[in-house]
Amino acid sequence: MAVTPADFDYISKIVREQCAIVLEKGKEYLVESRIMPLVHQEKLESIENLVKKIKQEPRGSLKDAVIEAMTTNETSFYRDIHPFETLKKEIFPELIEKRKAKRELNIWCGASSSGQEPYSLVMLLKNDFPQLNSWNLSFSASDISNQMLNRCKSGIYSQLEVNRGLPAPLMVKYFERIGTEWQVKEELRKMVQFRIINLSEAWPTMPQLDLVMMRNVLIYFDVEMKKNILGRVRKLLRPDGYLFLGAAETTLNLDENFERMPFKQSGCYRLKQG
Ligand SMILES: C[S@@+](CC[C@H](N)C(=O)[O-])C[C@H]1O[C@@H](n2cnc3c(N)ncnc32)[C@H](O)[C@@H]1O
Repeated sequence: MAVTPADFDYISKIVREQCAIVLEKGKEYLVESRIMPLVHQEKLESIENLVKKIKQEPRGSLKDAVIEAMTTNETSFYRDIHPFETLKKEIFPELIEKRKAKRELNIWCGASSSGQEPYSLVMLLKNDFPQLNSWNLSFSASDISNQMLNRCKSGIYSQLEVNRGLPAPLMVKYFERIGTEWQVKEELRKMVQFRIINLSEAWPTMPQLDLVMMRNVLIYFDVEMKKNILGRVRKLLRPDGYLFLGAAETTLNLDENFERMPFKQSGCYRLKQG
């Protein structure tokens, strides 16, 4: 069912206000395909009726449901693989060496979706850097979506999801079978604090960070919001900490305080040194 220009404008406006995602003209198909299941679920018959209901009850839960529906949650274990190779071969060995006196590492995944990214990292740390078991590791992962956060906390994935990127030996080692699904073992789930953070609003207090994963989320925001978020990440990062962005994202022309590291297709950045 087609969305009218007025309803498209209204939905674009509330999505931008609530989570900074930009829906440009031409994305009507996206709104239609993402919102129609909600229209059916709410027995509202049309997007027009849905918009009317939101206008009548602007503080109602329907608005949140629209935001949930319009966020793209695409993710997978060890997505794009190169960033994780770089973390394993370059970044963690360096950070561990530099932090060995204090034995402390602080990590934040700023758009964790259903959790494959933070759990990929936790498995990497557990499997390849067992010396960190006795370190003080603070690992938080956040997303704007309640549904996604609940999925992160449960750590439960379908066969299809584990087939996407998770090496079999890691699945055997770190997952338990529940019926037809797979759950990340509790010892790994306990290592991550999951919470809601809307990147476009104020962030809670966080420690100085050694590693920030902010992958495949800036791409949805306008230039001002990208600059704003990178500026805040810059203040949170330790001077020798690292930021990872998605393959289609960059700090170039947004924040000149970052420099790209020459690691193959990793989207790895640090603050300019000196
Ligand atoms: C495409 S996923 C990326 C997941 C993961 N980082 C990866 O690269 O595989 C984008 C995530 O950003 C989240 N998101 C969108 N807008 C957000 C906002 N304003 N604040 C926090 N998270 C947001 C979405 O809910 C979604 O889970």
